[in-house]
Amino acid sequence: MIAVTGATGQLGRLVIAALLKNGVKADQIIALARHPEKAADLEKDGVQVRDFNYTQPEAMVIGLEGVDKLLLISSNELGQRATQHRHVIEAAKKAGVKLLAYTSVLHATGSALGLAAEHVQTEQALAASGVPHVLLRNGWYNENYTGGVPSAVAHGALLGAAGEGRISSAARADYAEAAAVVLAGEGHVGKTYELAGDSSYTLAELAAEIARQAGKQVPYKDLPEAEYKAALIQVGLPEPVAELLANSDAAAAKGALFDDSKVLSKLIGRATTPVAESVALALRA
Ligand SMILES: NC(=O)c1ccc[n+]([C@@H]2O[C@H](COP(=O)([O-])OP(=O)(O)OC[C@H]3O[C@@H](n4cnc5c(N)ncnc54)[C@H](OP(=O)(O)O)[C@@H]3O)[C@@H](O)[C@H]2O)c1
Repeated sequence: MIAVTGATGQLGRLVIAALLKNGVKADQIIALARHPEKAADLEKDGVQVRDFNYTQPEAMVIGLEGVDKLLLISSNELGQRATQHRHVIEAAKKAGVKLLAYTSVLHATGSALGLAAEHVQTEQALAASGVPHVLLRNGWYNENYTGGVPSAVAHGALLGAAGEGRISSAARADYAEAAAVVLAGEGHVGKTYELAGDSSYTLAELAAEIARQAGKQVPYKDLPEAEYKAALIQVGLPEPVAELLANSDAAAAKGALFDDSKVLSKLIGRATTPVAESVALALRA
C-alpha cells in the first residue's frame, strides 16, 4: 500500500494521478488528507481516503495502518513544518512504514534559501528516526512564476530580486512523476535525489520569453531584496509570503535554484517541461 499526504494539494493530486497512470491500482493507494471531504473524487475512483492531520500525532498512527510506502509532502504551514513533519515521522515509525519519501528542497544542506531550514531539520529527524527513507529534494516549480505572468504582461514589467541567478525549474507535474516512480519502484532507500529542470534561465530571460509570447514589452526589473518585498506587500501579498519570495529570489541570485545534474529527467525517463511551455499555458488560461 502506498500512501500520499497532502493528497488534496496540487502536488499530491498529481502524484496520485501519476501512480495510477504508471499502473498502480487504485486500491493500492491511500490518499491522506486533513479535509477528507475534499478527496471525494479520488474515493469515487477507488482510492482509499483517510483523515490525516499533521497536528494530530496519535491519529496519524491509525491513519498509517497497513501502509508500506509513504510520501510525506512537506506542509505549507511555514514555521510549523519541522514539528509537523517530526510527528509524521514518529507516526510512520510506530506504524512500521517500510519506506518514507520526503519532498525536501534542492541542495537543502547549505542552501541559501531561508525556507531550507525546516527541510534540513526534517531530514535530520528522518536520519535519527531509523525509518528507511529517500529524499526528493525538489527544485522550483515553473508554476511559481506562471501565476505572475498575466500581471507582468498587464503592467509591462517582471519584478524580482534574483539578479543574474540561473533557475533550473521544472513543472510541478514533473516532480510528481518522479515521486510516483520512486514510490512504485524499488532500490531507493537511503538515496538523495537533487531534482531540477534540464535547462535554466535568469529572470531577465524569463521576461524576454513572456514578452516574445505575449507580443508586448515585458522588461525584467531587478530590485534589491527589501524593495522587492515592499513591492509584493504593496500588491497585496501577506508579509510572511512577501518575505519568503524576496528571500528566495535573493538566494536564487547566489545560485540556490540552479542545478544541472538532470537527475529529474533521468528518473522520469523524459525531458522536463521547459518554462516556456508553462508560460504558454499561463497566457492561455
Ligand atoms: N518546490 C517548489 O517550488 C514549491 C513551491 C511551493 C510549495 N512547495 C512545497 O511543496 C509542498 C507541496 O506543494 P503543493 O504545490 O502541492 O502545495 P499545496 O497545494 O499548498 O499543498 C499543500 C498540502 O499540504 C496539506 N497540509 C497543510 N497543512 C496540513 C496539516 N496540518 N495536515 C495535513 N495536511 C496539511 C494541504 O492540505 P489542504 O489540501 O487541506 O489545504 C495541502 O494538501 C508545499 O506544501 C510546500 O511545502 C514547493
